[in-house]
Amino acid sequence: MALLRRDSLGTGQLLRLVLLHTAWEVGSGQVRYSLPEESKHGTFVGRLAQDLGLEVSELVSRMFRMVSKGRGDYFEVNLQSGVLFVNSPVDREEGCGQSPLCAIDLEVIVDKPVRIFHVEVEIQDINDNAPVFLVQEQNLGISESRLSGSRFPLEGASDADIGTNSLLTYKLSSNEYFTLDVQVKNDHSRLVELVLMKPLDREETPEHRLLFTATDGGKPELTGTVQLVITVLDANDNAPVFNQSVYEVTVLENTANGTLVITLNATDLDEGINKDISYSFSNLLPPSVRKLFSIDPDTGEIRLKGEVDYEVKTLYEIRVEVRDKSPFPSAGHCNVLVEILDINDNAPELAVTSLSLPVPEDAPPGTVVALISVSDRDSGDNGKVTCSIPPDLPFQLVSTFKNYHSLVLAEAVDRERVSEYKILVTARDEGAPSLSASSSILVPIADVNDNAPAFPQPVYTVFVKENNRPGAHLLSVSASDPDLRENAFVSYSVVERSVGEQQPVSSYISVHSESGHIYGLQPFDYEELQVLQFQVSARDAGFPSLCGNVTVQLFVLDENDNAPAVSAPGSGRGSPGPELVPLSAGAGHVVGKVRAVDADSGYNAWLRYEVQEARAAGPFRVGVYSGEISTTRALEESDGPSQRLVILVKDHGEPALSATATGSLSLVERPQAGDRVRK
Ligand SMILES: *[C@@H]1O[C@H](CO)[C@@H](O)[C@H](O)[C@H]1NC(C)=O
Ligand SMILES: *[C@@H]1O[C@H](CO)[C@@H](O)[C@H](O)[C@H]1NC(C)=O
Ligand SMILES: *[C@@H]1O[C@H](CO)[C@@H](O)[C@H](O)[C@H]1NC(C)=O
Ligand SMILES: *[C@@H]1O[C@H](CO)[C@@H](O)[C@H](O)[C@H]1NC(C)=O
Repeated sequence: MALLRRDSLGTGQLLRLVLLHTAWEVGSGQVRYSLPEESKHGTFVGRLAQDLGLEVSELVSRMFRMVSKGRGDYFEVNLQSGVLFVNSPVDREEGCGQSPLCAIDLEVIVDKPVRIFHVEVEIQDINDNAPVFLVQEQNLGISESRLSGSRFPLEGASDADIGTNSLLTYKLSSNEYFTLDVQVKNDHSRLVELVLMKPLDREETPEHRLLFTATDGGKPELTGTVQLVITVLDANDNAPVFNQSVYEVTVLENTANGTLVITLNATDLDEGINKDISYSFSNLLPPSVRKLFSIDPDTGEIRLKGEVDYEVKTLYEIRVEVRDKSPFPSAGHCNVLVEILDINDNAPELAVTSLSLPVPEDAPPGTVVALISVSDRDSGDNGKVTCSIPPDLPFQLVSTFKNYHSLVLAEAVDRERVSEYKILVTARDEGAPSLSASSSILVPIADVNDNAPAFPQPVYTVFVKENNRPGAHLLSVSASDPDLRENAFVSYSVVERSVGEQQPVSSYISVHSESGHIYGLQPFDYEELQVLQFQVSARDAGFPSLCGNVTVQLFVLDENDNAPAVSAPGSGRGSPGPELVPLSAGAGHVVGKVRAVDADSGYNAWLRYEVQEARAAGPFRVGVYSGEISTTRALEESDGPSQRLVILVKDHGEPALSATATGSLSLVERPQAGDRVRK
């Protein structure tokens, strides 16, 4: 038995087969059966004996046998029934491949008589083969830059069956990017192409996995599938992008060189060099900013490389660019806002802008002495400045507006007490720690004639002996004036008034206007003037001038310049008239009295009396202090009718001055009424 392939048959055989077919139909002994491939063992094929015109009962006796070319075990005949059945299943594809006709030739031989029959079993195709792909997975790389409509050929499937069983249709699992286009070529083979319907995006879906299915035309149909793995190849279709469009960061001023300000973060969704990025400052960045900041092209770190000063600039806007490293790079941008925070790095500054000096000591409280302006380059509390001066000064600071202060007089000042003030003005800001500055203002106080000349004592008392030499220096007065210069230049004068009988004081004394020496102009006469009281005025040269007075009490001291004067009635020469003394007068009888006066005073006027010639005094004596003339004993006739007494009157001055009085005494029998001792 042999499997016949149509394509292996010669033209003669083809004809023969056609003939056999015809013979079978007319019962010529040629038999042809048809059987689906893969029929199982025992499957009935045909009543072979009957169909060949043989008696079933004779089969054994006629030595019925069946041979096939090559292996003969596909079919067997049951010798009892003459039925041809399947011994082992036939695979059409194994025997005939893709040939459209496939048949197995059998030869049946019987003896008595010998006859040979040709039996042909046509093996019919059944759809027992699914479409098969060569590989389990088909890999494709497609650039994301490919346009829609692009075509990519696919490896189709094969099906071992024939006819419609091997007629393949293809389909793709559902997706939005790809579709299939199948074209039938001249040789009936199919060209399967993948068609891009819309551009791919690697960054969105880097790989597409699709099920590529081939379905044959059998009934039931069989399918084969293969996994299509489409890798999307990168194109530089993404610009690098910062994760923020604006970065805000704060940096303290004076932060150290090299300090990290911020790390930028940009990413590029592409791959490879399309993804590798490099940071840089925008070309438009002004050099003044460029010299303060640096950027690391690889890490995106922005660092300080100079000194940032809040007082110079408080906000930097840095435009940063990032590019990928593709030959045709794309770029992204961002803004970095660097806000500089103030720290208290500036001390306040203090300036005395105007001064009205010196300050007259009579300036009223509130007088502006100086204008002070303060400033601080810092801001906020760091720039808030308070100004102060030490307490216990007659000044105060008044804030005029914002940063201006006036130093004003708070209370009256007195140059004579404090002639100048050194005022330390301190400006302090409110930073932590705070900074301060100070400035010292020297405020001199100008003199005003506010002090009258003053004498050290309210009264000068001086004692001057009478009969002083005219022009003698009697005393000096001196007044002091604490003011300055002309305000303290004192001149003296006597305050005029009249003394006694219209005599002006200035006729007695004169005051030297500069020295204050007081001179006597004429001798004083104690007996005329005991006390001269006058006032000396001291006047300064200020404008208006002030003056002070002092009282001078000048006591004239007595000198013994007057001799005692004995008074006699009428005469005035000191010689008393005769006294009548009765002879009967006993001892101690007062017979008269010497009357004397002394114009001086005190000792100079204290008189004593004595009898000048005691021998000649007889029985009379004179009282030393009283001047009374009295008898020492009873009178006698022998004492004579009259007696003359010379009495010396002496004062106690040094030297003493004296005068004499002569008394005449007449001794009489009986004194007459009215007689008495006369002076
Ligand atoms: C950059 O930012 C992204 C998201 O904002 C983050 O996932 C990534 O870790 C950041 N890169 C760096 C270096 O910080
Ligand atoms: C951007 O990246 C930086 C650095 O990695 C990170 O600190 C920041 O939070 C990110 N910003 C956003 C909005 O993700
Ligand atoms: C900051 O440091 C860098 C590197 O050390 C140096 O080149 C630069 O001159 C420094 N800048 C200043 C202002 O000190
Ligand atoms: C000084 O005396 C004069 C004349 O008596 C008088 O006008 C003046 O007020 C006195 N001055 C003082 C300070 O007492």
